[in-house]
Amino acid sequence: MPYGHGVAVGGVLKRSRELVRPALVEAVGRLHPWTGEMAAYALGWSDASGTPGRGGSEGKGVRQALAVLGAEAVGADGGVAVAGAVAVELVHTFSLMHDDIMDGDGLRRQRPAVWKAYGTGPAVLAGDAIHALAVQCLAEAPGPFTGDAVRRLCGTLNALVSGQAEDLRFERHPWSGTGAVGPDQYRSMAEDKTGALLGCAIALGATLGGAPSATVAVLERAGRQLGVAFQVVDDLLGIWGDPAVTGKPVHGDLRLRKKTYPVLAALAGTGAAARELAVLLDSPEPFDSATATRAAALVEEAGGRAATREEARRHLDAARHGLREVPLAPGAAADLDALFAYLLDRSW
Ligand code: IPE
Ligand code: MG
Ligand code: MG
Repeated sequence: MPYGHGVAVGGVLKRSRELVRPALVEAVGRLHPWTGEMAAYALGWSDASGTPGRGGSEGKGVRQALAVLGAEAVGADGGVAVAGAVAVELVHTFSLMHDDIMDGDGLRRQRPAVWKAYGTGPAVLAGDAIHALAVQCLAEAPGPFTGDAVRRLCGTLNALVSGQAEDLRFERHPWSGTGAVGPDQYRSMAEDKTGALLGCAIALGATLGGAPSATVAVLERAGRQLGVAFQVVDDLLGIWGDPAVTGKPVHGDLRLRKKTYPVLAALAGTGAAARELAVLLDSPEPFDSATATRAAALVEEAGGRAATREEARRHLDAARHGLREVPLAPGAAADLDALFAYLLDRSW
């Protein structure tokens, strides 16, 4: 982690991972052996032959940390959030499995995506199994707040699907004129696709920690704002990130002509770069790597990269502001704030 707050954030991510890991392992152990093997592969715990200990990256574990910090921020022990943390990590895992199929992305975290390693049918099935397991784990959590938590998770699953539906449908929208995707439509899509689960993670922690519903709502809102910042940074990394670090294909979104924020912002410009970019995007030819590289340069020249950083900053500021709207335990609030900031500066 190359940034100043990275050290503290690294500690929070590690602490949360260690707290949640036994319950996550136990949950995955309840799956059918084959879907369980694919889950372990997706979680970075094993290789594609099912051999444990030869996995890849486990991901950042941001969602489980948000759940743990959500509980701590409302004065509860982080341990009460474990079932919520397991649920959001499992939802994240299944959503990426299915997303890579929908996006045709063959690479995830430096390794073949699950559908590449095991086949599309098995990856769909494993995703379904992990989805069901997420809800089951939360529904079986003891305590008086389980019903609220499950309702919240189910609402989030619907929001996530809505966001993904918009994201996919945008691929068919024109780049300009009637029906073009505007910044507000993009934000709404990103808030659902990415923000809903981040908001849910903090909210589940706070809910299981016994927080009043008004506090939960404020924290969830902050997580949703963070999600928009997170997604536009994801879009940036998809164009200018180092594939050796992001673990994703180079220019995957550009090749698919996805309506990402940097491209939309670039097209809003009026200069020569924006015009040339529009012509490239409207051409029926598939993008080869030279065309994708040219498109990336034009997006930058037309101001799309800078506009996207500003957009991320705006949403991060709103999310951090949200954290100050309700009284929170100071240590956990500081950890949340540092984690939020780290997610804007991340390189993967
Ligand atoms: C994934 O969105 C969001 C969900 C899985 C719901 P993206 O398609 O933008 O994310 P990456 O770039 O593949 O991780
Ligand atoms: Mg994707
Ligand atoms: Mg996608």
